[in-house]
Amino acid sequence: MRIEYGSLIPAEYARRETLLHVANGYLGVRGSFEEGVPPHLRSVRGAYINGFFDEAAIHYEERLHGFAATQQSMVNLPDVQGIQLTLAGEDFSCFTGSLEHFSQVLDTATGVYIRDITWTSPGGRATRLQFRRLASLVIPQLFLIDLTVEALNWSGPVHIRSTQSGEVRQDSDPEDPRKAAVGRRTLRVDEVTLAGGAAEMLLSTLGSALTLASAVGHQAPAGFSLEAKRESGLVSWTFQGELAQGRPVVLTKYCVFADSRRHPAPKQDAERLLNLAMEQPFAHWASLQKQALNALMAGAKASISGDNVLNTSLSFSMYSLLMSAGRDGVGNISSKGLSGEGYEGHYFWDTEVYMFPFFLLTNPEIARALLMSRARMLPGAKAHAREMGHPQGALYAWRTITGTECSSYFPSGSAQYHINADIAHAFLSFWRVTDDLDFMAGHGLEVLVETARLWLDAGHFSGGQFRIDNVTGPDEYTCIVNNNYYTNKAAQHHLRGVCQLARALQDQGKFHAPERLGLTQEELEQFQEAADRMFLPFDEALGICSQDDSFLGKKRLDLSRIPRENFPLLMHYHPLFLYRHQVLKQADTVLSHFLFEEGEPEEAIRQSYHYYEAITTHDSSLSPCVHAMMAARIGETAKALAYYESVAALDLMDTHKNTADGIHAANMGGCWMGLVYGFAGLRIGENSLRFRPTLPESWQSYRFRFRWRGSLAEAAVDEKGIRFTLLDGPAFALSVDGKQVDIAGPQPV
Ligand code: BGC
Repeated sequence: MRIEYGSLIPAEYARRETLLHVANGYLGVRGSFEEGVPPHLRSVRGAYINGFFDEAAIHYEERLHGFAATQQSMVNLPDVQGIQLTLAGEDFSCFTGSLEHFSQVLDTATGVYIRDITWTSPGGRATRLQFRRLASLVIPQLFLIDLTVEALNWSGPVHIRSTQSGEVRQDSDPEDPRKAAVGRRTLRVDEVTLAGGAAEMLLSTLGSALTLASAVGHQAPAGFSLEAKRESGLVSWTFQGELAQGRPVVLTKYCVFADSRRHPAPKQDAERLLNLAMEQPFAHWASLQKQALNALMAGAKASISGDNVLNTSLSFSMYSLLMSAGRDGVGNISSKGLSGEGYEGHYFWDTEVYMFPFFLLTNPEIARALLMSRARMLPGAKAHAREMGHPQGALYAWRTITGTECSSYFPSGSAQYHINADIAHAFLSFWRVTDDLDFMAGHGLEVLVETARLWLDAGHFSGGQFRIDNVTGPDEYTCIVNNNYYTNKAAQHHLRGVCQLARALQDQGKFHAPERLGLTQEELEQFQEAADRMFLPFDEALGICSQDDSFLGKKRLDLSRIPRENFPLLMHYHPLFLYRHQVLKQADTVLSHFLFEEGEPEEAIRQSYHYYEAITTHDSSLSPCVHAMMAARIGETAKALAYYESVAALDLMDTHKNTADGIHAANMGGCWMGLVYGFAGLRIGENSLRFRPTLPESWQSYRFRFRWRGSLAEAAVDEKGIRFTLLDGPAFALSVDGKQVDIAGPQPV
C-alpha cells in the first residue's frame, strides 16, 4: 500500500511532513524537504527518539500541594535532514522555477519514503532529483537519505551541501493546550569531532541531563571533492563535481543517533554503528528493511475488500502503529507516535486501551515490551501516589515519559485515576491471550497489586457499597465527579483480575514470594469485597448507566445550536461551562460497555449508547472508533460504518486539522480495532476468543490475522459467514455467536 501525492500543495506541507515521516519504534524523522522551504510556510522540521526527553519546571502562579512539578518533552534531535543543491549556479527549490514532476510516496511494504522531482530551474535547466529515506528496522539508531541527481538537458558543475545542526528548538503554540506553549531549546552541543569526513556531535539535554550522540557520514559520488566545516553547533559538508547530462550521481547520507537512556556510552556506540552502516549501500539497508517489515506484518495482515479508501487507511494505521511502538522496554507509544511534537511526546492511556490490543493479538513480543515499559515506571507511580496523598499503592501518571506526572491541569489530568485500571486491563488481557504466567508472576502481579491498592485507599465503603469519589473519567468535559461509571467498572474488573491471577499463580505453584509484595490472603479478600460491592450508578427512569452521580441531573447542551467553527469546544469554552453541562468530549460509559460488557443487560448497553451518542462531540480523536465498535455491537452496522469512515479519514484527510502536529496514534489503533473488535465482534474471554461477525452491506469481505497462545490464524468474513484458517501453531477453540469452533489443521473452518 502506498501513501501517494502527485503535486506540491504548500498548505498541506506540514501535514505531509507528519504522514510521510519514517520511523522504527526508536527513531522518527518527519518528512521535511531536505533543501528547506520558504519561511512563511508552516513546517515542523523534527526528528525524535522514543522516550528521549528534556524536562523543565512547570511554572504556576498558584501552585497547590501535589501539583505536577516538572514537564517532560520529547526532544527535537539535531537536524540531519539538510541537503541543499546548487546546479550550475542555481539553487534548487521546489518553490522557484517549475516542477515538471513532483511526487511523494511512502510505501508501507518497503518502509521507504521517496520524493521524486523533475525541476526546471529559472535558467531553463531540467534536473531529475530523487530523495529516498528510511529509518532502519535493523539498526534502529540509523536514518538514511539517498539522493540521486541527474541533469536532463545540461552538463555543468554541481554543489551539494549537506548539514547537521545542533541548533534546534521545540515546536510550540501558546494558543493550543495540546502543544507546548514555549518553543524551548532543549539541547546543548558539548563537543563536535570531524574526522575522515564523518562528524560526531555530542549533546546534552538542558534540564534532564541526558546525553545524545549524533553521527553523520556520507558516501559521496565518485570524483566529487569534499570540504567539511564546523561552525559551533553546525557541521556542513560541501561536495563539488561535474554533472554530465544523462549520467546520474548518487549521494548517501548516513545518520546515527544514540541516547544515554539506552546506551551507556552513546559516543562510542554511535561511532561503531555509523561505521557498520557505512559498510553497505542504501540498497542493502532497503532490502533488509523490506524483510523486517514482512516479518512484522506476518501476524498483522488485514484487509477490506470493497472499499479502497478504508483498506488504505487500515494498512496505513497498522504500519504507523508498528513504526511508533517502542520495543526496548524503555520507550512506549507517544500519542503522536514518532511523527510530531503534539502532546510533547507523552504516553497516555491511549497505549493500553487503543493500541495495545493490536500488538497483543498480532505481535505479542511488542505487547510484552510495552508492558515492560509500564513495569519500569512503577517506582514513579508509587511516588506519584504519595504526592497525591495515598499512603499505599501506585498511581500511574496521566501523561508522562518516564513515569513522572506531567499534567499541569489536574482536573483532566491526574484526576483520571482510571489509567490504573486501563494498564491493569492490558496486563490481564496479555495473560489471557498468551497464557504467560511466568511473565505475570515476574512483572504483572506487582503492577496489578500496587495499582489495586490505590483503589482501596482512593475509594471507601458507604451504605454497604464501595464508592470512588472525586475522579475524572475518560470524558474530559466532565471533571472531578463521584462514582464515574467507567472508573468504577474498570476498577472492579481490575480488582477481580488481581484475585483471579493470584489464584491461578497459586494453582500453578508460581505464587512466589508474595511476602516481597506484602500481599496477604486478607488483602486479596479486601480486593474481592471492594469489587463485589462496587457501586455502579444506574438511572432507572432512563434505563441507562449513569456517567456519574451527578451527570444526568445537569443541563443538556444542545449541540445543534453550537456553530461548527466552535468545535472542538475545548478551544472556545471555559472548562467550567463544559463541566456544568451534559456534553461529552469522548466516549465514556459507552467505552465501558465496550471493554467491560460482562453482566451488563443488553437493553442498558443499547439505551446508554443512544443516550450518550446524542451529547458526544467526538472532540477527542479517541471517540469515533468506540462508537463504531459499539454501533456494530448493537447491530447498527450502517452507523458503525459511518463512524468507521470518519476514523479512517482522520489523519489521511486531516479532519481534525492538526495532523501537522503528529498522527493520532490511538485513532489508528481504533482503525484496526474497528475492524476486528467492531465488525468481527472479537472479545477476549478468560479462556478463548469470542466473535460476533457482521459485514457492512457495501463490502464484499474482510480478513485479518490474529495470534492466540502461540498459534497464528486468519479470519475471513464474507456474506456466507466467517471462515478461520490455522496458519501456524497448535489447534485451539474459539466461539462464534456463542457456538464453539475448533480451529485445527490446514483446512478453513
Ligand atoms: C483525550 C485523552 C487522550 C489525549 C491524548 C485528549 O484529547 O481527551 O483521552 O489521552 O488526548 O491522546
